[in-house]
Amino acid sequence: KKLIIINGPNLNLLGKREPNIYGSLTFTEFLEEVKGKYPKVSIDYFQSNIEGELIDKIQEVGFSYDGIVLNAAAYTHTSVGIGDAIKAIETPVIEVHISNTFGREEFRHQSFISPNAKGVILGFGLQSYELAIQSFL
Ligand code: DQA
Repeated sequence: KKLIIINGPNLNLLGKREPNIYGSLTFTEFLEEVKGKYPKVSIDYFQSNIEGELIDKIQEVGFSYDGIVLNAAAYTHTSVGIGDAIKAIETPVIEVHISNTFGREEFRHQSFISPNAKGVILGFGLQSYELAIQSFL
């Protein structure tokens, strides 16, 4: 299986960004751990703080990969463009969030990703990503 994890804005700061909400592990550390657990699965990784770059990557992988694990971060709640990109491609997308966005501010309750995602996993910390990966196996 060929999967990709796509992370949106500010997720490059995982480990030092609001550790009370997002934990103190860096994404690189976490990714190494997960790759070790699933050695037969190809897991690519892409992070960008730029909306258009996220759309470019979704289009690039969206007709050949088996699955996309997408944490669009703040763009989840604002981006019609990322929502449309998911509608446009063939590869199924699992939306993930580290935190339980429904337990937070009202503006985080809205998602432009969910209506077009195969499924949504949120609130399990970094384990949300691993559960999404498992769902593709
Ligand atoms: C997040 C939740 C978003 O509301 C927030 O903007 C993020 C991270 C999460 O993984 O919990 O940057 O997507």
